[in-house]
Amino acid sequence: MTDNREKALQYAKENKEKFLNELIDIVRIPSVSTDSERKDDMLRAAEWLTKKLADLGMENIEIFPTPKHPVVYADWLHAEGAPTVLIYGHYDVQPADPLELWETPPFEPSQRGDNLHARGASDMKGQVVATLSAIESIVENGGLPINIKFMIEGEEEIGSPSLVDFMESHKDLLAADFCLNADAGMLGKELPSITYALRGLAYFEIHVNGPSHDLHSGLFGGAVRNPANVLMTLIAGMKDADGHIQLPGFYDKVRSLDDEERAQLARLPMKEEFFLKQTGAPALWGEKGFTPVEHVGARPTLDVNGMLSGFTGEGAKTVLPATAMAKISMRLVPDQTPGEVYEQLVQYMEANTPEGVTWDIKIEHGGNPSISERDGIGVRAMAKALKQIWGVESLFKREGGSIPVVGNMQDILGIESVLTGFGLPDDRIHSPNEKQDLPTWYRGIDALIHFFYNLV
Ligand code: BES
Ligand code: ZN
Repeated sequence: MTDNREKALQYAKENKEKFLNELIDIVRIPSVSTDSERKDDMLRAAEWLTKKLADLGMENIEIFPTPKHPVVYADWLHAEGAPTVLIYGHYDVQPADPLELWETPPFEPSQRGDNLHARGASDMKGQVVATLSAIESIVENGGLPINIKFMIEGEEEIGSPSLVDFMESHKDLLAADFCLNADAGMLGKELPSITYALRGLAYFEIHVNGPSHDLHSGLFGGAVRNPANVLMTLIAGMKDADGHIQLPGFYDKVRSLDDEERAQLARLPMKEEFFLKQTGAPALWGEKGFTPVEHVGARPTLDVNGMLSGFTGEGAKTVLPATAMAKISMRLVPDQTPGEVYEQLVQYMEANTPEGVTWDIKIEHGGNPSISERDGIGVRAMAKALKQIWGVESLFKREGGSIPVVGNMQDILGIESVLTGFGLPDDRIHSPNEKQDLPTWYRGIDALIHFFYNLV
């Protein structure tokens, strides 16, 4: 076995270019899950994966249709007595706009220095291809020592709306000892990381409607409510000056951090300077009484993601808008749920909206927060693998981002996830000029090879 491991690592070394070309191939496909015009590209990405999985000798390969985008499944289950790992991935990406801010087009991958720039290069096609490359290296050098199943979805970036039903109706198919999820990144080039907590998400569109049509702001201004002003006042009231969210009952289910965990978080290299550097903001700001690492890892938020109302073109137009809209989302922490937060938002709107306007809320999507086990066989095999490559102990971090499937798997399949990844905090995921650092990516492939061997 040791010998196979060495051969697999050698194979990975010799096939760097092949692996990179495969990554380049799949990031060329603009699989933007939120864009209904990209349905064909979504299917193309799913088919790309099935072809690759077939090349790897995987079996029972299937593209399962869902109400939105298909789930790709495959398995290889011939390592009798060895553990079964469910490998999770997502082949969808976030929209690439604003396009004009990209130095090279988002779906025409471009290598500059150590980086491969493209939408999805880091989040998370890079991580999916790293996993496939590790498996190829093992398969080509003596075969897999463990059993694997793949579940690669196309809806992660829109809150995985079909995955709960899919998992509920395929419990046996998906049964495994634990899940490998490489969608959670690492803290720095020399800081391999394992994530044990993720925030959830609740995303809404709030509409405030006033007059039946846009009005002359002189003829009618002052005599009717302006929906834009009303919406801004409502939003302003959602947080107090100390950053505490004012929706009724919002903190009731929030689990507090104990002193030991606060001390552990304080030791992570995620101090003020880290956040100042990563954000480029002139100063940090957050809920009073907590540190930045706690703000993003263990406290909920409420943020405006976008607003639309009235005249925003060049120059001036004396108009009183008929409607105003804001996209608002909350990052949630255990044990908040998107459903309960929606009720709280409705209560807030009912209690605070003045007469003279109407309002409605559209639910975009949501996902539950999660806290994962820190000491299962998967976590131990991963911590060891990361150390084998980076030579240092892994950091155990909480993440502010969301991967809804992690909590859903605990609830539905009863399995824990090992969360890691080879994306870096400055990869600009979801932003223009997303990139993957390639030296880190190759080390990630090697670490994954070790990980699979470490399980036996
Ligand atoms: N990979 C990210 C989440 C992430 C990034 C976790 C870095 C840990 C470290 C994932 O693809 C993502 O962006 N998720 C969305 C989910 C949402 C739309 C439900 C997010 O967090 O915005
Ligand atoms: Zn993402």
